[in-house]
Amino acid sequence: MDPVQLKDKIYWVGAVDWDMRYFHGPIFSTHRGTTYNSYLIVDEKIALVDTVYPPFAGEMLKRIKKVIDPSRIDCIIINHVEIDHSGALPEVMKLAPGAKIYCSPRAREGLRKHFQGEWDYRVVKTGDELPLGRRTLSFIEAPMLHWPDSMFTYVKEEALLMPNDAFGQHLASAFRFDDQVDNKMIMEEAARYYANILYPFSGLVLKKLEELAALGIPISMIAPSHGIIWRKNPGQIIEAYRRWASGDWLPKAVVVYDTMWGSTAAMARAIVEGLASEGVDARLFKVSLRDINGIITELLEARLLVVGSPTINRSYLSALSPFLDDLAGLKPVNRLGAAFGSYGWSRGAVKDIEAKLEAAGLTLAGEGLEIAWVPDAGELESCRQWGRALARKIKEK
Ligand code: FEO
Repeated sequence: MDPVQLKDKIYWVGAVDWDMRYFHGPIFSTHRGTTYNSYLIVDEKIALVDTVYPPFAGEMLKRIKKVIDPSRIDCIIINHVEIDHSGALPEVMKLAPGAKIYCSPRAREGLRKHFQGEWDYRVVKTGDELPLGRRTLSFIEAPMLHWPDSMFTYVKEEALLMPNDAFGQHLASAFRFDDQVDNKMIMEEAARYYANILYPFSGLVLKKLEELAALGIPISMIAPSHGIIWRKNPGQIIEAYRRWASGDWLPKAVVVYDTMWGSTAAMARAIVEGLASEGVDARLFKVSLRDINGIITELLEARLLVVGSPTINRSYLSALSPFLDDLAGLKPVNRLGAAFGSYGWSRGAVKDIEAKLEAAGLTLAGEGLEIAWVPDAGELESCRQWGRALARKIKEK
């Protein structure tokens, strides 16, 4: 694939990773692969904005060489230290040893620890500018979106925002722009990215959106560091981030469970029937069969999360642990929770699940539901009633 021109003499020179299936170690399944987006700005000075994951350094350099000799690179902007973006920096520095590296103070610390390179660092803060000739870069710090070092780069004359991880998606594609790719698929991956990476920083996302609005800068294109570039409708992803970070919701419930001999499964199905009978879009997930990142993504719209497990060893099934642990870290915004499960001679699962839901910041919507051994017809009706009562809670503002 050749370099792709975004604007006059501004090129995508990154890499497409069709095979990446797990990101951040095993915790994020990237079922549609990803891209590492690096951008080359050719002006009186030549700037490279971010690099790529080390295995793709050669691919990036080949693309750069189709535009310029890499030794001509004057400035390298590192918006974020994480290795998928800074990893090819040593290879670029071998070819352009005189290049100056522009980054936030925390990024300089991180780069020094990652690469031990004593390069020519130029630390920048919000409002600082770097004139390149016809174009000027300005920098906007964005700490904790999603690392302390993160920042955005803005090309003023082109109204082009390069926000690194923010507004990105793990989505490999032969195309680079939002008007070339199915919009539903892009938004699915953008939502999955937000829910599984940015959810805990939602308060900061809202503040950053307000800051961008207050700066009054026009944005004609958003070029993130992963996935598709927003050129047709950059407002679409800004509005989605506002919605997700605000905790907006639909009358929807996510029921997540696992089961030993089918009693908790039977309860789960009856609860879904109760929720649905009140018009709630209830979705059922047996956690051991499903993709946890996909369940977490469902929570971007669902008001209610219901979690069920039988009691074993006085607590919940370990099959639920990865999901509940992920939830505790990601802290969904403005969500209700409830717990249920079957038990034999002792209880414990429901109490422990409730503690986990509260630790994740959810508000309990009501008392948990526990049924001994195997639910009979009357008890299954109680499950439906419980689901109906939860549905009414969802509708309360
Ligand atoms: Fe935070 Fe795409 O790295």
